[in-house]
Amino acid sequence: MTAADDRLVDSAADLGKVLAAAGYSRAGLSGGRMAPHPFDAVVLAHRLGNTPLATLTSLFLAGLTVPRSAAVEALRPLNLDTLIDAGLLAGVDDRVQANTCIAWCDEMLVAHDWQDGRPLGREHVVAVSQASMTLADLTVRRPGVDALDVGTGGGVQAFQAAAHAATVVGTDVNTRALRLAEFGAGLNGLSNVRWLEGSLLEPVDDQTFDLITVNPPFIISPDSTYLWRDAGQSTDRPGSLGQQLVRQIVPRLRPGGWASMLTSWPHQMDGDWLAPVRLWFTGMGCDAWVLRFASQNPLENAHIWLAQSEHATPDFAAAMDRWLGFYRDQGIEAITTAAIILQRTDASAEHLWADDMPGSPTGPGGEQIQRVFESRRRLARLTGDDLLDAVLTPLPGTRLEQSLCRTDAGYEPTPTELWVLPGLALCASVSPVALPVVLSLDGQRPLRDLIAAAAHATGFDPDQVRADALSTATRLIELGLVSWT
Ligand SMILES: C[S@@+](CC[C@H](N)C(=O)[O-])C[C@H]1O[C@@H](n2cnc3c(N)ncnc32)[C@H](O)[C@@H]1O
Repeated sequence: MTAADDRLVDSAADLGKVLAAAGYSRAGLSGGRMAPHPFDAVVLAHRLGNTPLATLTSLFLAGLTVPRSAAVEALRPLNLDTLIDAGLLAGVDDRVQANTCIAWCDEMLVAHDWQDGRPLGREHVVAVSQASMTLADLTVRRPGVDALDVGTGGGVQAFQAAAHAATVVGTDVNTRALRLAEFGAGLNGLSNVRWLEGSLLEPVDDQTFDLITVNPPFIISPDSTYLWRDAGQSTDRPGSLGQQLVRQIVPRLRPGGWASMLTSWPHQMDGDWLAPVRLWFTGMGCDAWVLRFASQNPLENAHIWLAQSEHATPDFAAAMDRWLGFYRDQGIEAITTAAIILQRTDASAEHLWADDMPGSPTGPGGEQIQRVFESRRRLARLTGDDLLDAVLTPLPGTRLEQSLCRTDAGYEPTPTELWVLPGLALCASVSPVALPVVLSLDGQRPLRDLIAAAAHATGFDPDQVRADALSTATRLIELGLVSWT
């Protein structure tokens, strides 16, 4: 680190206190789980009027210059010149501007580079994105664990882990990212996080962890323009990063430990999209849940990612040609993007399953994930009619959604969907025949009794009620949408 880097990190704890006292936080700015886009921050600063909090918002969220005198006032008792020396602020005549955006993810501040149309450098430290939030919500959070965050960037996953873990290590190949992550840790007053420079899990040697999170540069492309986006896979086997990660992660997980990662891989358009991932896990001794966000053709995939990093139409078009040519040359017909959640079991046979989750979680899903893994193992042990003895309890936040569709015969109810909010963006479909059973789940009576009572009360065919209720119950259990005592 340079002397300025040291000064930046040294300034963090005091700056964090000034920001907190001014109400510069998600709660103080009545914000969502992610900080607003700079344009929205401009609007927010107007709403806040002529206040120190408005000045801080203009500086650190909107990326605007503010009068030096207003900055002195808002940052008191900090010395403005010290912050300029540290490289956090730049003086422009009688105004100052922040070189770094200070955003947030839930209750943690996160420092990153500006993403407001300024050109991005190779070492650009990315903002907290929807993908970051999704990974955070797909992480199992147990108290007192030792956690590792690979490709930490500005440290968002590491900070989330620091709130419940005993120790956290964040790794990255980007020196700038590690510097901003350390600065961010100081802003949040965190003392249980340390940072290591290097590729993937190499910097931690053979240390083991209870929790590993990875939001890597998983985009499959011919480019190596940005560290945050491109894994430089054109020279290697495209899409091999996921396998590399699985092979590095599992041995560094303690028995029972959890890992959550985002990844993507290529496959044939009409083939089994999950087949490559099954191979990654062969002989790895863990259970793994693949949550598929999307399977896209090359054009769709290139569109999604290039739209986020190219700003001028000719650049976008040239990159599109380059990417499509690369996919053609590599024989890539489709690319699937997914999260993989895994738990080390050391069992002789691994258990891998998949679900589609095109939407984003509506909140932390760690409890639901643990229910899913535990219940799936329990389901696998059932024989015969065992499931009829299951006692299921609806969860807080359970929501049943049903629409009425107009047909020639009048309005017909569509299958009901059962969701649990907040949680993973997953729902189970409940047929009209199974609905009375689902409505009567009470955590007391076994399914056997509820099925008999529903068949009696509705006059539906008892065999049909039993078949529908059992398949619905299985799905509710598989998706962690119900508690099974
Ligand atoms: C998509 S960003 C994720 C940032 C942050 N963890 C999040 O969840 O928002 C990917 C990060 O991985 C880092 N990275 C790229 N190649 C890497 C490698 N080989 N080893 C470790 N980190 C790497 C990038 O510098 C970048 O910070």
